[in-house]
Amino acid sequence: MIYAIIIAVFVIAAIWFYFTRLVTPTATKFTEPTKKALVLYFSPAGKTKRLAQKVQAQTNADIVEIEGTKPYKADPKGRAFVEWVTAATPEVVSKLDDIDDYDTIFLAYPIWYDTAPMIVKQVLKKHNFSNKNIVPVVSFNAVSRGEGRSIRMIRHHAPRANVMPRLVLQDNDQDTQLIKDYLNEVSYK
Ligand SMILES: Cc1cc2nc3c(=O)[nH]c(=O)nc-3n(C[C@H](O)[C@H](O)[C@H](O)COP(=O)(O)O)c2cc1C
Repeated sequence: MIYAIIIAVFVIAAIWFYFTRLVTPTATKFTEPTKKALVLYFSPAGKTKRLAQKVQAQTNADIVEIEGTKPYKADPKGRAFVEWVTAATPEVVSKLDDIDDYDTIFLAYPIWYDTAPMIVKQVLKKHNFSNKNIVPVVSFNAVSRGEGRSIRMIRHHAPRANVMPRLVLQDNDQDTQLIKDYLNEVSYK
């Protein structure tokens, strides 16, 4: 009996460790200057695009939109729900042949059902993010816990990436200052 309890405690502790580890960023600061940065965004309704453009303006990064082979409508609720429930693998338009050129990727996405859209998962699986810095740029409606489970998704599907703290913007005039403060805080150069 005592052995069963010890094994159960061990298993619960291991599961707890696995999941809590994945929800946190892997780094708090950039250790080296970025050579080439990319803002990669998904934005069916346009808000994340505005946030992505503001990040691009301050980082001088290239900017590329994530699109589905089957385009998403501005209000994609039905499709988004089916994709979320089935953990779907929607096909991504191939615009990014050369992710190897970039060492920092600002990955901007809306929160759907407390996580990132399944198409973001596909992008993470499709490209090799190993040893790259990923800055999650999160766009949401404040009905959930901000980034929700999206950091876990990124860490799970890009296990060798350096995942930085997430950047949350407000889609208003304060964004420019928020981006500036964030970049200072993480020592982005
Ligand atoms: C299908 C769907 C699910 C959503 N789920 C959430 C959620 O769980 N939490 C939240 O805060 N916002 C949620 N939202 C709101 C979006 O995250 C928010 O409107 C986002 O800024 C939209 O970005 P976009 O304009 O770039 O598409 C959801 C929106 C949609 C369409």
